Amino acid sequence: MAANGNEKQGTKAFYVTTPIYYVNDAPHLGHAYTTVAGDVLTRWHRQRGEKVWYLTGTDEHGQKIMRTADANGVSPQEWCDKLVTEAWKPLWEHLEIANDDFIRTTEKRHTDRVQEFVQDLWDKGEIYKGGYEGPYCVGCEEYKLPGELLDGEGDFAGEKLCPVHKKPVEILKEENYFFKLSEYAQRLLDFYEANPGFIQPESARNEVLNFVRQGLTDLSISRSTFDWGVKVPWDDKHVIYVWVDALLNYATAAGYGADQARFDATFPADVHLVGKDILRFHAVIWPAMLMAQGLPLPGRVVANGWLLVGGEKMSKSNLTGIKPQDLTSHFGVDAYRWYFLRAISFGQDGSFSWEDFSARYTSELANDYGNLASRVAAMVNKYFGGELPAATASGEAEKAVQEGLAKAVATADRAIGEELDFQSGILAIFDFVKQVNGYITEQEPWKVAKDDSEEGRARLATILYTAAESLRAMAVLLNPVMPDTSQKLWDSLGAEPHLGPLAAQRIDETADWGRLPAGATVTKGAVLFPRLEEKPTA
Ligand code: ME8
Ligand code: MG
Repeated sequence: MAANGNEKQGTKAFYVTTPIYYVNDAPHLGHAYTTVAGDVLTRWHRQRGEKVWYLTGTDEHGQKIMRTADANGVSPQEWCDKLVTEAWKPLWEHLEIANDDFIRTTEKRHTDRVQEFVQDLWDKGEIYKGGYEGPYCVGCEEYKLPGELLDGEGDFAGEKLCPVHKKPVEILKEENYFFKLSEYAQRLLDFYEANPGFIQPESARNEVLNFVRQGLTDLSISRSTFDWGVKVPWDDKHVIYVWVDALLNYATAAGYGADQARFDATFPADVHLVGKDILRFHAVIWPAMLMAQGLPLPGRVVANGWLLVGGEKMSKSNLTGIKPQDLTSHFGVDAYRWYFLRAISFGQDGSFSWEDFSARYTSELANDYGNLASRVAAMVNKYFGGELPAATASGEAEKAVQEGLAKAVATADRAIGEELDFQSGILAIFDFVKQVNGYITEQEPWKVAKDDSEEGRARLATILYTAAESLRAMAVLLNPVMPDTSQKLWDSLGAEPHLGPLAAQRIDETADWGRLPAGATVTKGAVLFPRLEEKPTA
């Protein structure tokens, strides 16, 4: 998405990242959850007038990808190219993700810089050669500690299983290069203490603290048993461990080693969005790598909870059969973006259910919000020929609406913009929607319309102006969450000729009452949230 032209220049960008996802398969609801959250967060900050940089991408090296490509009879690069162009990028476009860059770990702009980074650490004595033998999970691309493994049952009786993937681990024995991670435990603990907001939510922070307090072992950062990866620059029999390669995307995409000015204006990330599965990589290994190189550390690592289906974490190996596209074709893209952030508290696990989505769509989107928009537009047309009248007879009821708006803006800005508490932020906006619905029910403009006197006309004009001006604010506040429907509403209010593009509207000006001028041309717009068809039968 192009910059909206109202950002402050010369400051560091508000930099947000998603994980770079493995391309062994197509994206599912879980990946879309994290990516939509980041998109809402960054669109919100753009509407604060900040310079923003939103990064996503794909993690294409490692054994897992190599095996998937083998199983499909193509080279790993062919496999990655196909998945990126046919599945990943199209889904993000479909979901209206406004990322500023998309990094692939097989790109030269990345691999060259990864080699330089690792070479530097080698030159500094942060890396040494050693041997290691231990249980490895290919699903996690990680050595496991014997104590965290599960005992297999049934088909896996007698085997040790990865606690995340519930699949047998493999015993790997390798001569590898090691990063001296163990030497960073105390520095990390000091950093966590000095920056209590670094890991969120609190439960995630506690998990990491407990883990690091037990001491860290050095990290094996190369592999020699397969070759799908970035070569270790001083020993080409080894490739760089996929997680070291992957984490560095956050630096290489920001211009590390290539464009110092852009790097300084972007790095480090203000927010790394991750799932709980990859918290330790981001909260332990990544900051230690940066410390070793003397680079600045990120602002926050924020872990979202799991989307569950039938009580189990939704994953590629546990497919539910529901794809993001199955939901968007039924509910629409905007409702999809809204639903998961509205229904689930961001750091908590939450179950998806078709019935819950349908019920909320109908009551909150279609009935509360969509109906309000269409009723107001219809009345401005019926009673004022589509020309927004001025509010000349405001009183206590109108003042209450203005106060409700100010409260919604303040609450939503803190919740969405600062705390990444999307649910509370969206609820605050929808409380305002409810308030305005209540205002119309009480004021009964259809009855006031029967009063032909001057006072009667003035009251009717005031009620409809108040409602339309409230809708103007709703379009602005909901634009980060539901850009398409917000644009429809913006068009229906005739706001653009007077106020400019929707994306350029500032959050901090949203509660300034009276921005939408009398005289704006209000049209009966398209229905924002059409009635749902019957649930498709699978
Ligand atoms: O871990 N609920 O990639 P990945 C919520 N390549 N979020 C979910 C989810 C679910 N059920 N399932 C997946 C990798 N996610 C590495 C990352 S970063 C330097 C490298 C989301 O394809 C969540 O953000 O396994 C999780 O952390 C991520 O997808 C894992 O994606
Ligand atoms: Mg995974």
